[in-house]
Order: sequence, then C-alpha cells, then structure tokens
Amino acid sequence: MCVDRGKFITFEGLDGVGKSTQMEKLAAWLRQHGISVLTTREPGGTEMGQNMRSLLLSSRTEGLSPMAELALMFADRAQHIDEKILPALERGDWVLCDRFTDSSEAYQGGGRQLGSEIVHQLQKTLCRDLKPDLTILMLTDLSHSLNRARRRNAEDSKHSENDENRFEKENRKFHQRVLDAYLALAEREPQRVVKIEAKEAIGRVHKKITAVVEERLGLARK
Ligand code: TYD
Repeated sequence: MCVDRGKFITFEGLDGVGKSTQMEKLAAWLRQHGISVLTTREPGGTEMGQNMRSLLLSSRTEGLSPMAELALMFADRAQHIDEKILPALERGDWVLCDRFTDSSEAYQGGGRQLGSEIVHQLQKTLCRDLKPDLTILMLTDLSHSLNRARRRNAEDSKHSENDENRFEKENRKFHQRVLDAYLALAEREPQRVVKIEAKEAIGRVHKKITAVVEERLGLARK
C-alpha cells in the first residue's frame, strides 16, 4: 500500500523563546487529530548526535573554529535525516523538529559571520536538499529570550555535569546577528517561514500556531 509522505515542520528562533514547549503542544494537538507524530531536535536527535551535541554546546569546548562548528552541525543533521527524519516521513508520520538548517544559517551564517551561501551548499550536498514544509519562527525581543535561556541553563547545570551554555555565553551583538539572519530568511521564503510573536501566553501562541498549520498544511486525517 502506498502511504502519503508525512509533513515536516520545524521550530526556529533564539534560545529561550519557548520552542520546545510549543512543539510538544502542537504534537499533542496533531495526535488528537489522528496524526502520528515524531518529535525530535537538533543538534542531538540521534544517539550518535548526542555526542556531537555535548561537544557543540558544552562551554568547556574551547577553540572550536566556526567552520568546524558548521561541519559538526551538518554531520549531526545528515545522520538525523537518514536515521530518523526521512524514515518517519516515508512511513507517513509528521515530523516536528526543534531547530534545523535555518539554525545553521542564523547562528553559523549570521552569528559566526560565515554567510548564507555555504549553508545552502552544504544543505544541498549533505542533506538531500530536504526542506521543511513549514517553519515556525518564534520571535521575542533579544533580552527576554536570552535571560530566559541563561536562567534555564544555570538551573540545568545544577543538576547535571553537562552544561550547554556555549552559545548563550556569546555577546549581545552575536545574538542580534542571529536574529537579523532569521528575519532575512523569513523575508526571503515567506511561503515556508511563518513568524509568530512568542511573548504572549503559552495558550495564545499555541492557538496561533495551530491556525497556521491548518491554513498552510491542512489536516489530512489518517
Ligand atoms: P538548544 O538547547 O537545543 O536550543 P534552545 O536553547 O533554543 O532550546 O541549543 C541548541 C544551540 O545550538 C542553540 O544555541 C543554537 C545552536 N545551533 C547552531 O548554532 N546551529 C545549528 O545548526 C543548530 C541546529 C543549533
């Protein structure tokens, strides 16, 4: 029997903007509509990727060059696509992913100033040119999301050996470049990337996201 390929939705935005909460709420809502859903994240969506995640995010990783950082993000992604994302889409599941290639364009392309072109080339070469059907870009002001991310990571570090603060420790200018790169890619691809104001109450943001998903993707019940 031929199954329709599932939809691929990604969540993007600055650290601490509330992506993972909204992704889980959308997953629950889709499941209520009879859709089978896989939730995952980058970096670290596979077992192998967990090692890359620790290396990439630990504030103990010093001296990693921007190019090496970009290469590791793509190594993680290539494994994730082959091992988890494509098999799930081919089974007909919907895949919701917390960060994907747009994060590389924003953080390495914008934040680290490597530019967008190299990210697009790697996407084509290493990622089978897989693009999301829909990307939810969650936006708040810079200070709000950074403070939230730093509080959360300080709390997490108390309970685990693994501290994931390397990006949060970057200065405000870095995060402003990340935000500018996100806004530029949303401008370039309005048919795929939808900006969502994320500062409102969790329930209201969730309603906006489900409205976008219904409007853009429909809800083919299975
Ligand atoms: P994570 O804790 O997953 O994100 P958040 O703080 O938003 O919950 O951290 C992932 C970090 O990795 C985040 O700071 C962005 C960064 N990153 C990149 O720089 N490039 C990439 O391609 C990806 C996927 C993530």
